[in-house]
Amino acid sequence: MTVEKQDTEPLVELAKAEAEVDLPEIGARDRYDALMDVVRNRVTVRKFDSTFDVPDDHYDLILEAARHAPSGANAQPWHFIIVRDQGIKDQIANYFVDEQRFRAKAKMKFPTPDYRGLATAPGFIVVCSDMRWVNAFPVLNDGSELDRMYKENAERILLQSVAASTMSAHLAAAALGYNVWWVTAIGQEKAQAAIKPMLGISDQLSVLDIFLFGPPAQTPYKRWRKPLDEIMNRDRFDPKHMMTDDELDDWIKTRRHRVMYKDASKID
Ligand SMILES: Cc1cc2nc3c(=O)[nH]c(=O)nc-3n(C[C@H](O)[C@H](O)[C@H](O)COP(=O)(O)O)c2cc1C
Repeated sequence: MTVEKQDTEPLVELAKAEAEVDLPEIGARDRYDALMDVVRNRVTVRKFDSTFDVPDDHYDLILEAARHAPSGANAQPWHFIIVRDQGIKDQIANYFVDEQRFRAKAKMKFPTPDYRGLATAPGFIVVCSDMRWVNAFPVLNDGSELDRMYKENAERILLQSVAASTMSAHLAAAALGYNVWWVTAIGQEKAQAAIKPMLGISDQLSVLDIFLFGPPAQTPYKRWRKPLDEIMNRDRFDPKHMMTDDELDDWIKTRRHRVMYKDASKID
């Protein structure tokens, strides 16, 4: 089946792309290396060059990657809203700046970044989910305790699905040469209430995160990663990998800010 030619060349030959699976020979390194080049260099920045114009087709290329993500029950419970209106970007940024002040006042001790950078992002995509899709996963819908447990799991499936798709989009942006920023500080009800009307988002949808991308206006740097042997277990969970509550508390107190940012004095 061929896709009808329209005024512009189709982005990809959809029917063909969707009918075929094309994997290299198992163990072939070239595609892995090409992928890892993107994976390693997907780096967060929190301030962008706001003068840059994202070419229209870059949104298509990026969301095309999001579209191919796996999802529970193949429900694809995501919506992406491309924001180009600077007024709306400013309003959303202001919401986060207020949130940042609130957190400081509430003494949450979380090293919150400078959310003014949101307004500088040339690429600005709000990621939403339709929470009603939980019903596509195994649930009973009878109000029972068992139903509550299954619903909780269904919500996790839904959130993981949207995260998978968001990650594909981030990697696509990185593959196109952009720095990225994944902002989730948006889960609270008041964030939903503030942001949804700005974008005409209906009640049933939930804003899950904001995906920002563009050329950086600060020097990107690679953040620390746990070594492989610390996260990898074979056959059984290695008890050496289990932190005690005290170790975890200490890590949050003494290390968290150092791994989130270049150093404690340089919160982005
Ligand atoms: C699920 C998720 C939620 C995040 N939420 C925020 C956020 O609300 N604000 C923020 O500034 N960064 C957020 N980030 C970005 C992380 O801080 C960043 O990815 C992490 O520090 C590692 O840095 P890197 O992306 O450069 O590898 C989030 C990332 C993920 C994957």
